[in-house]
Amino acid sequence: MPYETILVETRGPVGLVTLNRPKALNALSDLLVTELGQALDALEADDSIGAIVVTGSEKAFAAGADIKEMQNFSYMDVYKANFITAKWERLAKCRKPTIAAVAGYALGGGCELAMMADFILAADTAKFGQPEITIGTIPGAGGTQRLTRFVGKSKAMEMCLTGRLMDAAEAERAGLVSRVVPATDLVDEAVRVAEKIAKLSRPVVMMAKDAVNAAYETTLTEGIRVERRIFHATFAVEDQKEGMAAFAEKRQPDWKHR
Ligand code: CAA
Repeated sequence: MPYETILVETRGPVGLVTLNRPKALNALSDLLVTELGQALDALEADDSIGAIVVTGSEKAFAAGADIKEMQNFSYMDVYKANFITAKWERLAKCRKPTIAAVAGYALGGGCELAMMADFILAADTAKFGQPEITIGTIPGAGGTQRLTRFVGKSKAMEMCLTGRLMDAAEAERAGLVSRVVPATDLVDEAVRVAEKIAKLSRPVVMMAKDAVNAAYETTLTEGIRVERRIFHATFAVEDQKEGMAAFAEKRQPDWKHR
């Protein structure tokens, strides 16, 4: 399907979505968010795809929600539409593993979108921030909640109250990103990592993702109960037998479910 604001390609078992509104630093217009949702629906439905990478340009992953599009919204407009609408959360709802590959600015809704992926791989040029306070509003796509869970109250509060940006090194120290790589290697490295995940047992990968996500949604006792149930469930997947047999027989596993 031809899109106006994103590019979609497949690299082996990896779906690569590139946000593509260069003149607006990939500001997340309604159309872009809609098209991203459609692309993610298609990649989730495509059985040949085992993992998804979302990236932007060298200059910007995304510089936030589209300020020019929303500047004249009234309270009634945003209240009635429940803006930021549910379609913004599509990335967070993916069942397949997702990686945000971030170079340049990931600000406001851009930072919030990156945090919806399973993890963030950052280029050394990446800059993260929730600068909404500097334009008279606050994060509206989960920033006050997800950033606080990632980096703790002090840093999240400072960033949301002042709009200060965090560079890639600080983001790695704070646990916002899994790793920092040279900008020139960002997309290739993200695709390599996604491919590695896509070559594992797909149901077991999805189960691992569900279990880690439980840590964000619930108490420790409940999370451990969820983990135990999912761990037990892996024993109903042929790939647990195959993986453990392959280990015992000193060979590579041949996963049944990819
Ligand atoms: N919305 C709409 N357009 C945007 C945009 C945004 N979020 N960010 C950048 N642009 C546009 C600029 O208006 C400019 O367009 P024109 O050439 O037509 O003037 C173009 O992209 C290039 O931007 P700049 O000239 O500003 O580039 P720069 O290199 O000087 O600065 C920047 C880069 C620091 C990222 C700056 O563009 C900026 O501060 N952008 C806004 C960041 C922001 O406030 N984001 C939060 C948005 S609110 C939000 O996201 C709410 C939410 O929680 C969902």
